[in-house]
Amino acid sequence: MKKWKTNSWRNYPVKHIPKYEDEKELNMVLNKIKNFPPLVFAGETRHLKEQLANVVDGKAFLLQSGDCAESFAEFNPDNIRDTFKVILQMSLVLTYSASLPVVKIGRIAGQFSKPRTSPTEKQGEKELPSYLGDNINGIEFSEKARKPDPKRLFKAYSQAASTLNLLRAFSHGGFADLKNVHLWNLGYIKKSPQNKKFKELEDKIADSLAFMDACGINSDFNRRLKTVNFWTSHEALLLPFEESMTRVDSTTGECHDTSAHFVWIGDRTRQLDGGHVEFCRGIENPIGIKCGPTSKPDEIAKIINVINPKNEKGKITLISRFGHNNVDKFLPKLIRGIKKEGLNVIWSCDPMHGNTIKSVTGFKTRPFDSILNEVKNVFGIHQSEGSFAGGLHIEMTGQNVTECTGGTQKISDQDLSSRYRTHCDPRLNANQALELAFLISDEIKKNSNNARSGIRAVS
Ligand code: PEP
Ligand code: CO
Repeated sequence: MKKWKTNSWRNYPVKHIPKYEDEKELNMVLNKIKNFPPLVFAGETRHLKEQLANVVDGKAFLLQSGDCAESFAEFNPDNIRDTFKVILQMSLVLTYSASLPVVKIGRIAGQFSKPRTSPTEKQGEKELPSYLGDNINGIEFSEKARKPDPKRLFKAYSQAASTLNLLRAFSHGGFADLKNVHLWNLGYIKKSPQNKKFKELEDKIADSLAFMDACGINSDFNRRLKTVNFWTSHEALLLPFEESMTRVDSTTGECHDTSAHFVWIGDRTRQLDGGHVEFCRGIENPIGIKCGPTSKPDEIAKIINVINPKNEKGKITLISRFGHNNVDKFLPKLIRGIKKEGLNVIWSCDPMHGNTIKSVTGFKTRPFDSILNEVKNVFGIHQSEGSFAGGLHIEMTGQNVTECTGGTQKISDQDLSSRYRTHCDPRLNANQALELAFLISDEIKKNSNNARSGIRAVS
C-alpha cells in the first residue's frame, strides 16, 4: 500500500468534485482554511468511535439524521433547534423500544456538497450546470449562480462553526435534560397522534424520574440525565475542503478530519481505486459507506479492508439504501459477504435514497410507506441472517414541510407544492420522522432482544 498523505487522493481518479475556474483563488481559500480552528476535536472523534463499537456489539443503536443538504438560506437558530428537538424525540422513542442507548449523529454542521445524477439541469431551452450544494454554487437558475465559487467555502465553514456552537449549547446547557422532555415538542405537531403517543412516553419517563429522584438519582447529581452526546457528520465529497480540515492530533500523531466527527462515502464515489476511498483510509474518523444496488459484496469487503485494515470495531458503518423493493435481492448477499470475511461493521439502514420517485405533480418525493417498508424489510432480513440491524439513517427536518407523501397527515401529491423547501432530496417532516420511530418500535425491540440473547450466548 502506498504512503498516505492528506493530499494523496489527488493521485487517484475522483468523481463529483467540481472544476473551479480560478485555481489560484481556490488554493488561496484552501490555504486559509488550513489555518482555521478545527470544528471538532480528535478526542471527541475517538469517543464517538468507542460508542459506535457498542453498536457493533448490539449494545447501542445508531440514529443518524438531518438535512439532505444544508443551505445558507435556511440557516437560522429555530431550524437548528427544531431539528435537534426531533432527533431527541426520535431517540427517546428508540431508546424506549430497544432498551438500548442511542448514539445520535446529525447530518448537520457541514452537510453541504451533493453528488448529482446529471451534471446539467435543463429548464425550458436553457441548460446550466447542476446545483452542487451551497458550499460550491448557488441554487438559483442563472449562469452566475451555478459557477463554482471557492469563497462559498468560507461561508460554509462559518455556518458549520456556529451551528455546532449552538448544538453544543443545546446538548450540554440543560435543554437536553430529561426532565425538560416536555420542551422538545414542536407546536405544530401538538394535535397529531404521534404527539399523543409521545405524551404517554413523557408520562412514563416522568414516573421513572420521580422514582429515581426518590432513590437519590437525579440530573443534579447525574450528568448523564442532564446532557447528551450529539455528533456531527456529512458526506466527505468535496475532498479539497476535507483535506484542508485534516490535522495531525498532537497527542497521538494520528490524522483526523476535523470538519465533523463522522464522515461517509456516498454510493456514487465509493470506487476502490478512487480518491474518496484513498482519502478516507488515512483519517481516524469513523467512516460510513453507502451501499446501493450497484454495490458488489466482495468490492465492499475490499473497501472495508483498505479503510479499516485492523478491523477496529466502530470504524465502519455500512449504510444500505437499496429501495424497499430491492432489499431482498441485495441485502442478504451483502450481509453474507461481509460475515464471510469476518468484518466488524455497523449495519445501518437508509430508507430514503432508494425510494425517491417523481410525483405526478413534478416534485421529487418519497412515499412514507416505502420508507417504512424498507426499514421493516431490512430489520426482517437482519433477523433471519442473525445480524444486528444497528442503525437508522434518515433525511428529516424539524420544519413542517411537505416533501414526502403520506404519513398520518396524509400528504398528497397535490400538497407537495405548499411547503416544499428542500435544496436537494425530500425530507421527512417532524411528524413523519416521529411516526417512523414509533412504527418501527416492534422491529427494534425484536432486534435488540435477539442481540441481547446473542450476547448472552457468547458471554
Ligand atoms: C445522501 O446521503 O444525501 C446521498 C447522496 O446518498 P447516496 O450516496 O446514498 O445516494
Ligand atoms: Co439526499
